[in-house]
Amino acid sequence: MSDQIQPVRGMNDVLPAEIGAWQSIESAAREVLGAYGFQEIRVPLVERTELFKRAIGEYTDVVEKEMYTFVDQGGENLTLRPEGTAGVMRALISNGMLRGQRHKLWCAGAMFRHERPQKGRYRQFHQVSVEAVGFNGPDVDVELIALAARLWRRLGITRVRLEINSLGTPESRRAYREKLVEYLQAHYEQLDEDSRRRLQGNPLRVLDSKNPEMRALIEAAPVLTDHLDPQSQAHLQALCAGLEALGIPFRINPRLVRGLDYYSRTVFEWITDALGTQDAVCSGGRYDGLIGQLGGEATPGIGFAMGIERLVALMNLEGTSAPLPSADVYIVVNGERATAFGLELAERLRDALPGRRFELNLGGGNFKAQFRRADRSGAALALILGDDELARGVAALKPLRREAGQSESPLPDLAAAIETALAAAAEQT
Ligand code: HAM
Repeated sequence: MSDQIQPVRGMNDVLPAEIGAWQSIESAAREVLGAYGFQEIRVPLVERTELFKRAIGEYTDVVEKEMYTFVDQGGENLTLRPEGTAGVMRALISNGMLRGQRHKLWCAGAMFRHERPQKGRYRQFHQVSVEAVGFNGPDVDVELIALAARLWRRLGITRVRLEINSLGTPESRRAYREKLVEYLQAHYEQLDEDSRRRLQGNPLRVLDSKNPEMRALIEAAPVLTDHLDPQSQAHLQALCAGLEALGIPFRINPRLVRGLDYYSRTVFEWITDALGTQDAVCSGGRYDGLIGQLGGEATPGIGFAMGIERLVALMNLEGTSAPLPSADVYIVVNGERATAFGLELAERLRDALPGRRFELNLGGGNFKAQFRRADRSGAALALILGDDELARGVAALKPLRREAGQSESPLPDLAAAIETALAAAAEQT
């Protein structure tokens, strides 16, 4: 036992029993994103470390403490992507895709952050990341949030609520930052160690502290939304009006600051009360300065990313994730000739009914053992083929999930009979 190789801490296997929820999130996201005109983009898992430092910010937890950074054999300093936005923006710049053009893109896959693992927080986790580039908003801000809301409805997720805020322009944020620093310095004795450190590099992040002893101090701090420039104020108001018009409930949370430095104006988070401290299932905002900062032609952008592990956990909790059966039809074979013919029959049926899943009993076994496997496969229907049936040119069909008798079908009509039986089975569930 002791020489077994252990998995890496904070990096999980997704087992077949859980894959149903993953696939339903992925396919619903693909479908909903398509309905809003978004296209998929795939970018490398590894980028130059400099990209993330410049995009996410030197004084963020992600860059300071959490990146998987290494020097490769060629001496290049590289990092496993901790998030998706920087890489997608880099790709738009590298491929000359800006120049006044607009893009609606999404990207899904693994992200890596060396955080302390706990429920809902992992070192390898998965995001669907959505980016709209070249749009000033606030209409696109509203539409992106409506897209996320539609996805929750599609997945049967109800235990989420929306919080929004505006971080203003870099200038108005700078002015606010001075006020905040003044306030925090006046209360320096009450700051915990983390906040003292943040005060030096990124004082806004003090507002994000999860330490309960800091709560009163943070509550009394100057509020960012009170110091917004008029344009950002108008942008926020238009966003609120747009959400109200679409009937999407939200709350303005003036302390929502986000952990990545590239945001300006709109930021938002979908929070759940069902998962404990790791309560953000989907977060994002505008990054109007990011592309310019990365050396591209100044272009506004907005996006968000949802954490798949957290959505899966939420769907499990809300009972909306059904395990995925491995088969629609389990083929039970009995007798030498029927067993030999089974492989050919299964191939023919897969040709005839391309969307259906057929699992052929492999490796023999008596009827009882085969039916046990059929049951475990989750199939709605067993197809039974014995030497006797084969001699008569028929096969038997037996529903597995409801009380119903067995029926027989001539082999040439089998595909149609299977469709009819599966439709009847689906109707009853
Ligand atoms: P983020 O808030 O760092 O934003 O992450 C987005 C989502 O990823 C979170 O709301 C959460 O659901 C999930 N997540 C983050 N860290 C972990 C973790 N360690 N374990 C499990 N899930 C996690 C971004 O990454 C931005 N790139 C989002 C964005 C896109 N903004 C604009 N465009």
